[in-house]
Amino acid sequence: MKQVTYNGLTFVPYIDRERIAARVNQIATEIKRDCPQGSIPLFICVLNGAFPFASDLFRAVDMDAEITFIRLKSYEGTGTTGVVKEVMGLSENLKDRRVIIIEDIIDTGNTIKRLIEDLKKQEPADIKVASLLFKPQAVQCNVAPDYVGFEIPTKFIIGYGLDLDGMARNLPDIYVLKESID
Ligand code: IMP
Ligand code: MG
Repeated sequence: MKQVTYNGLTFVPYIDRERIAARVNQIATEIKRDCPQGSIPLFICVLNGAFPFASDLFRAVDMDAEITFIRLKSYEGTGTTGVVKEVMGLSENLKDRRVIIIEDIIDTGNTIKRLIEDLKKQEPADIKVASLLFKPQAVQCNVAPDYVGFEIPTKFIIGYGLDLDGMARNLPDIYVLKESID
């Protein structure tokens, strides 16, 4: 893995694909263990960033399950705008369903908080959150994911779904902004 450059910013290797894959499999095992026998959970992948994680996690969860997608956006460049826009809504009925939200990263927590509040209106049986990455020191609201791949410091990262203004989502490994670790 070499360093990569986007928009004049340099990123260095941070979490490689083997570590990601190993954690995804562990999370899948935990989710399966926690799901009551016979329930068919509905995974909700938060687009765009969570799609590689959702794809790997959903296939690793070896049980009957459904998946759907919602599109939210709150970031511009390397900072959050603080405003969460719902760009694409859900068509599924969540009443009495066991819902597992799949997120790429929880930073301030605003996105996931707003999403949980919205989904609760439909009275699901349960809502759990699986986030590949979690920045505990950046969280501004009272949210904690049920399943976390990696807890990381408050640094800007890209790859495996995470972007810088739309770029870098297709990197198979995760990189961190070099300036933030110097
Ligand atoms: P939050 O609402 O502040 O928790 O931000 C959540 C969203 O911001 C995530 O779903 C990402 O799309 C984006 N985000 C947060 N931190 C990063 C990062 O380090 N790199 C890329 N995107 C990020
Ligand atoms: Mg996201």
